[in-house]
Amino acid sequence: MDYTSTTLLLAVLLFASAVAHDISHDSLCKSMVETEGYICEEHKVTTKDGYILGVQRIPVGRTSKTANRPPVLLQHGIFMDAATWLFNSPNKSLAFILADNGFDVWMGNNRGTISSRGHTSLSANDLAYWDWTWEQLVNDDLPAMYDYIHNQTGQKLYYVGHSLGTLLALASFSQEKLVNLTKSAALLCPIAYTGQVSSVFPRAIANTHLAQRAYLLGLGEFIAGGSVVGKLLEGVCRLPPIDCSNLVSTVAGPNCCIKPSTYDVFLEHAPQSTSTKNVVHLSQMLLAGNIAKYDYGDESENKKHYGQGTPPLYNLTRIPKDIPLFIGYGGKDSLSDVNDVKLLLDNLKDHQKDKLVLQYRDDYAHFDFVMAENAESVVYDPLLAFLRTQT
Ligand SMILES: *[C@@H]1O[C@H](CO)[C@@H](O)[C@H](O)[C@H]1NC(C)=O
Ligand SMILES: *[C@@H]1O[C@H](CO)[C@@H](O)[C@H](O)[C@H]1NC(C)=O
Ligand SMILES: *[C@@H]1O[C@H](CO)[C@@H](O)[C@H](O)[C@H]1NC(C)=O
Ligand SMILES: *[C@@H]1O[C@H](CO)[C@@H](O)[C@H](O)[C@H]1NC(C)=O
Repeated sequence: MDYTSTTLLLAVLLFASAVAHDISHDSLCKSMVETEGYICEEHKVTTKDGYILGVQRIPVGRTSKTANRPPVLLQHGIFMDAATWLFNSPNKSLAFILADNGFDVWMGNNRGTISSRGHTSLSANDLAYWDWTWEQLVNDDLPAMYDYIHNQTGQKLYYVGHSLGTLLALASFSQEKLVNLTKSAALLCPIAYTGQVSSVFPRAIANTHLAQRAYLLGLGEFIAGGSVVGKLLEGVCRLPPIDCSNLVSTVAGPNCCIKPSTYDVFLEHAPQSTSTKNVVHLSQMLLAGNIAKYDYGDESENKKHYGQGTPPLYNLTRIPKDIPLFIGYGGKDSLSDVNDVKLLLDNLKDHQKDKLVLQYRDDYAHFDFVMAENAESVVYDPLLAFLRTQT
């Protein structure tokens, strides 16, 4: 096989690995939260374009049950869901730590993930269901969850995002959206500029226009569970140099500090579906090195949507200078590459100094931030301290 077909096949198989696992259809509350002795509520939030999102809430901690708990919204990244915050034991998982430290914890799930496949009129089997990219997560999913939580609690929110969950916040804030509902935002492994992503998988997907081709073929969901590709995965995992036991590191950078048993839990919940169009959009950004709206691929289509021939750019220098931000990033992260994070930080160079906290960790990769054995002391303690200073 030539380079192109190899990378194509590998890319497809990689993201199809979901089908090799039986994703639990129990609610996350039942399967991951109540099992640890916490109270958990399943909420449904409907977006203005009809998607019905599952949101899990841990209203109190195991021992910390004080009243007047500030709400915090945890927002996962692409190919993930709210399980992101629950992979380790309670003392080492951010959602539980926040609940045990007096927060009212809400965990969002983007459209298309296992908790959020409902819609008021569409089915997830409809192509139209998958006609969105992260822009719609910014315009519809995030505001719907914010409004719901704000309505339920009557308070402003703290926000914690991982990976694509950071882009949703950055893009919102740059348009002055959600700013007056946010007390502060902690952004782990920021995804903003992606031109220097070093992971070969997103790069191969972008270079080969894999998602674009799938989209043209009418594949709305990237990648649907239960498809035939899962069967192929087993075979491909036996081919060097792909070591499926370590796919996570291959895709997202060599993690320093994740226990093998934590990977097992991870693989029961990831990867989750996203839309093919979203992957097309992210591939466009990776190739262009910018943060632009979706490119319809020809000038007249773009004109129809944007009134100009090229997609408009998000301008992160417009993020209000006084919104408190915590940015955690790692030296081994091959998705949030340090050089791309530097571009983001350059956009934030005029941010008020006392409103920007950086937490750099040389030996951390993308998933260490949410799964590492020592993340509590490396990331969560400083993160909690940051949240507490912004009341
Ligand atoms: C978890 O933390 C609590 C409170 O700090 C402590 O009492 C408990 O022993 C810890 N559990 C484990 C398994 O480390
Ligand atoms: C929540 O929404 C309901 C119904 O729209 C409204 O009556 C209530 O005042 C809202 N609560 C808060 C705290 O915004
Ligand atoms: C935030 O701002 C928007 C529009 O700028 C406004 O509609 C909304 O009521 C504001 N919310 C709060 C909590 O002030
Ligand atoms: C971004 O916004 C800033 C401040 O409004 C402006 O000075 C700058 O030219 C803008 N950059 C781009 C690329 O539009």
